[in-house]
Amino acid sequence: MTIRQLMSVAATVHSGQPRLAYRNQPADTWTMVTVDPVSVHYGDGGQLMRTDYDVGLDLMRALLFDTPYFDPRDSLDVEAGDDLLRARTVDVYQLPVEIADDGHLLDVKELLQLVSATSGQPMRAERAVRELDAAPTDFDANIPTPVAGVAADTAHVQVATGFDEVPMGGGRTYRPRTLFGMPDVQFLQRLRRMSGHARLSGPPGAGKTSAVLAAFGDDVLSVQGHPDLTVAALCGQYLPVPSEHGTQWQWVDGPLTRAMREGKVLLFDEINRAPKDVDDVLLPTVDQRRQLVLSDRPDLPPITAAPGFMVVATLNDLDTGIRPLSAALRRRLNIHVRVDTDYGIAAERGIDGRLLRVAQNLRTSGVDFGRQHNCDPSWYPQMADLEGAATMLEFGAQASFTALTASTDDRGRLREAAQVFASVFGEQVRPVAELGV
Ligand SMILES: Nc1ncnc2c1ncn2[C@@H]1O[C@H](COP(=O)(O)OP(=O)(O)OP(=O)(O)O)[C@@H](O)[C@H]1O
Ligand SMILES: [Mg+2]
Repeated sequence: MTIRQLMSVAATVHSGQPRLAYRNQPADTWTMVTVDPVSVHYGDGGQLMRTDYDVGLDLMRALLFDTPYFDPRDSLDVEAGDDLLRARTVDVYQLPVEIADDGHLLDVKELLQLVSATSGQPMRAERAVRELDAAPTDFDANIPTPVAGVAADTAHVQVATGFDEVPMGGGRTYRPRTLFGMPDVQFLQRLRRMSGHARLSGPPGAGKTSAVLAAFGDDVLSVQGHPDLTVAALCGQYLPVPSEHGTQWQWVDGPLTRAMREGKVLLFDEINRAPKDVDDVLLPTVDQRRQLVLSDRPDLPPITAAPGFMVVATLNDLDTGIRPLSAALRRRLNIHVRVDTDYGIAAERGIDGRLLRVAQNLRTSGVDFGRQHNCDPSWYPQMADLEGAATMLEFGAQASFTALTASTDDRGRLREAAQVFASVFGEQVRPVAELGV
């Protein structure tokens, strides 16, 4: 039995070798893991070495110590460790981890790679001990706003993350956002290796689909949720196929079945527009069973998902024609991430600064409204709106404004947006473009 949680770990890198430190939950000990330098010497890529300590400060001394052999019973080691505690900081990460029954972390090698490839939050050792002492967060609980760009209440444009762009085919690129302290695409890839599943929610045009395509490229099979989507279309059905002997009926796997057989990522776009039967079919495929029974093919044994199979569902939470997901499915697609546009990335992609100012302003007022009324923020422009508005700028302010606000029909909000737009552009615009009026 393993549990998946979001947990603080501290890390340092010594002579190119990362070390990881964390607190064991049930056992109440503190553990450091690194690659055993002796085993590296013998050239097998390195065995993991795990040392437990009773006291958090010993763990920090060990983490900073020159060699991985800190001994808390040796007063010289403790003295040297104390000097390091005063002089140095450690990096603290919030990482998604799998925890075994005995409290130890699984997949530690991957975590070690991760900490040597990215940087965490630098912290004084004493503070880091307190941070590790905090109980891990349930993944399903409300994880602190994970995606960069969430509900900024600052007036200035954010700075893009600086993660390398990911090519997406057709000359397009994707700029990763920060998710759980790492590039979003990297988190999604890691989650896939842990056999996890996710759901991305957020307003239309925020970059949900793009994040998945950037993370998995050709490994993605997509299905679009709509009210007429059937279980047969998802799982497979007999379809007429022309042949020499006239039309024959041939079984064709649906995207879910194919993704399971081929170990691919099923991107279920706008799952909350599909009928509820679809949720029920997905359930056994995304829990420990990883199985699908094709009810139209009693001749076939249940299909077991190949390694690599993952479901990422996207949901628009501010749109018409949607339904709530069942609690059972929400529990299984338990990594819930709210996706929002990172205006820093928009700026870097060359979106006109005036449009960004309008957008930022509307985001601030939209978020304030949500706070005051204890509801979702009201509409503000997303990446797709900004891209549309930028393209229309050559036709003037009114055309650009019309594209910018295409995804809302909230009259009050349109009027407010028109005022903001006019003050930034110095040109009056109407909430709706008019022809022959
Ligand atoms: N981080 C990013 N880097 C590059 N382009 C981005 C990024 N985020 C969003 N975009 C661009 O924004 C546009 C909208 O993105 P996308 O279609 O992924 O949004 P979505 O949330 O899936 O929208 P919908 O809810 O309408 O399906 C696309 O043109 C995409 O290329
Ligand atoms: Mg989409």
